[in-house]
Amino acid sequence: MSDQAEKLRSIVNNLNIPDRTLEPDRSGSARVVTITSGKGGVGKTNITINLAIALSKMGLRVVILDVDFGLANIDVLMGITTKYTLVDLIRGDHNIFEVLTDGPNNVKFLSGGSGVEELVQLDRRQLGNFISNISLLDKLYDVILIDTGAGLSRNVMSFVQAADEVILITTPEPTAITDAYALIKLISRKNKHKTIKVIVNKAESQREANDILTKLTLVSERFLAFKLQKLGYI
Ligand SMILES: Nc1ncnc2c1ncn2[C@@H]1O[C@H](COP(=O)(O)OP(=O)(O)OP(=O)(O)O)[C@@H](O)[C@H]1O
Ligand SMILES: [Mg+2]
Repeated sequence: MSDQAEKLRSIVNNLNIPDRTLEPDRSGSARVVTITSGKGGVGKTNITINLAIALSKMGLRVVILDVDFGLANIDVLMGITTKYTLVDLIRGDHNIFEVLTDGPNNVKFLSGGSGVEELVQLDRRQLGNFISNISLLDKLYDVILIDTGAGLSRNVMSFVQAADEVILITTPEPTAITDAYALIKLISRKNKHKTIKVIVNKAESQREANDILTKLTLVSERFLAFKLQKLGYI
């Protein structure tokens, strides 16, 4: 249903910048999946990397964009030192193709800009420029996984808007569940039809995970009139 052009338009509207620079080519659209969470440290980055490797093994062309503007660490988890990071892209020093690094199993990735203060408050032009760079990946990849920082920041919301679907990670911790719900509330208010798929990570048992998935689903339907999808548990 949602196509790349539509996504980009909605971001542009959201950002109130002119959309002349964002004229996506519709041939061969990549599937854009944003992985996010309410609370930090619930396993987003580990799940993103493993999902990427699994998809790549299935023969799909996969790229990961680490857009954590605070504590980016995908390069550390990959065990690879990268020449360029998100910072080089945001500053406009290099384009998206130059800043990608080869990861395991043919997975390409963009390393985040760890601890760089200026990235915490991206202005509209920078964010717009970044998103138009992402649209350049559209024809070259089948799946674009966007690993975000936790929480309800505007940057994170922009990447949620940009995605065809959102994978929301929580753990069984009560604070993680409450924060996940807060994020669902925010997303559902902005976009009633966004697809959100929930994963419970670090579950003690199948039953615990299913309880959490069922509760979140019921509460979202009841209080937000929003339908969640249960993706699974780890
Ligand atoms: N299923 C799991 N079993 C055991 N440990 C896990 C599991 N998932 C994640 N972890 C551990 O939890 C910690 C946080 O994981 P990770 O960095 O992937 O979370 P994150 O959501 O990306 O964090 P941040 O919000 O800081 O980006 C790491 O030490 C990781 O090894
Ligand atoms: Mg992370």
